[in-house]
Amino acid sequence: MTVMSIPNQSEMESYWLPFTANRQFKANPRLFVGADGMYYTAADGRRILDGMAGLWCVNAGHNQRPIVEAIKKAAEQLDYVSSFQMAHPLAFEAASRIAGIAPAGMDHVFFANSGSEAVDTALKIARAYFRVKGEVGRTRFIGRAKGYHGMGWGGLSVAGIGRHRKDFGPLLPETDHLPHTLSLEHAAFSRGQPAWGAHLADELEVLTQIHDPSSIAAVIIEPVTGSGGVLPPPQGYLERLRAICDRHGILLIFDEVITGFGRLGAPFAATAFGVTPDLITCAKGMTNGAVPMGGVIAGDKVWNAFMAGPESMIELFHGYTYSGHPLACAASIATLDVYRDQGIFERAAKTAPLWEEAAHSLKGLPNVVDIRNIGLLAAVELAPRPAGGVARSIEAANLCFDAGVLVRSAGDALVLSPPLIISQAEIDYLFTTITRVLTSLS
Ligand SMILES: Cc1ncc(COP(=O)(O)O)c(C=O)c1O
Repeated sequence: MTVMSIPNQSEMESYWLPFTANRQFKANPRLFVGADGMYYTAADGRRILDGMAGLWCVNAGHNQRPIVEAIKKAAEQLDYVSSFQMAHPLAFEAASRIAGIAPAGMDHVFFANSGSEAVDTALKIARAYFRVKGEVGRTRFIGRAKGYHGMGWGGLSVAGIGRHRKDFGPLLPETDHLPHTLSLEHAAFSRGQPAWGAHLADELEVLTQIHDPSSIAAVIIEPVTGSGGVLPPPQGYLERLRAICDRHGILLIFDEVITGFGRLGAPFAATAFGVTPDLITCAKGMTNGAVPMGGVIAGDKVWNAFMAGPESMIELFHGYTYSGHPLACAASIATLDVYRDQGIFERAAKTAPLWEEAAHSLKGLPNVVDIRNIGLLAAVELAPRPAGGVARSIEAANLCFDAGVLVRSAGDALVLSPPLIISQAEIDYLFTTITRVLTSLS
């Protein structure tokens, strides 16, 4: 492995880290210099068990050789070509492979470069769809409390995490939000989908009454809320939402940036739950995190509406310089090969019950007020500290890192999303470390 030099003081100053307390970080930087399988190598040589699959993205584990080799080969052959009025074969192959594992009737892939771009693309497709259909009044978007849809203006406008929105308003005006589905009172320590909460989907009916259904273009939700604290959908909730959207001609968008590509032991959450949206946004696991890539998978209804006009007409005035980048497409094809050849989704499905058992073994530890899990996702909700104190979840995540395990905090929860190749021994190590940390925490 090439030795990486540690940044000097001036380089430290130059880099503005995203979503980071820059000055605090630079006083004690957390540097990584390598990764393989389930582990990172830190600059001090420590091996760190990756309990987050990078950032919910490295589903097949780090340093997957077929993906690395495919990227190298693509870079040597065709470094770049625009996707505006031209193309290259790998883009078609990647799109067709992704459509091949998408739910039936979702056959068309528009490429972006991140989850945020995928979300903004999906929102724009939804509005443009109603324009081509002549329903020009359908412009409103409905998101959901605790939702995370990336950092573009569209995604932020439909997002439901207040702290992310606070500094940047005004956001898109024509939005509203469904309530979230978290209830410690009714559903704490549920395993998988909570039995309580399907009725919360009916809040969409209330919003249609407030706004007039013919003003609503789309509802966008994560089928499993991720960054907002891992909230599996209540049993029956997604089905109800789908039915209400259908009743009022509203498009349903599943933001599967986290749940796509095997996280729930199936290609998509839509497949796992048996509920098909009109548009799926994806990114992250699309290339196993190895090259930035995002996309929107469109259902045939949406696609056909765009393809009804004159053939010489550009159907969608939207796209990015790097849409369908050759390196990203090569990485995506190789990633899908890895998922298939190594049985990664099946492995996740098989590991999920062990994962659930291990996560729920934390019940009864100090300050643990809820544990949620689905597929290879879990959250351990900790009692909040009195206002002003550092959240227990932040302190716990830092202590876990010191003990060689990478997990994240989200609000008062510790969130876990390991590579889908995690073994029983690594699951044990992960939860034993968390147990030790939580037992030591005041
Ligand atoms: C559900 C969801 N949507 C969108 C995004 C944004 O993706 P990106 O950070 O690639 O822009 C994320 C990122 O975590 C996400 O979890």
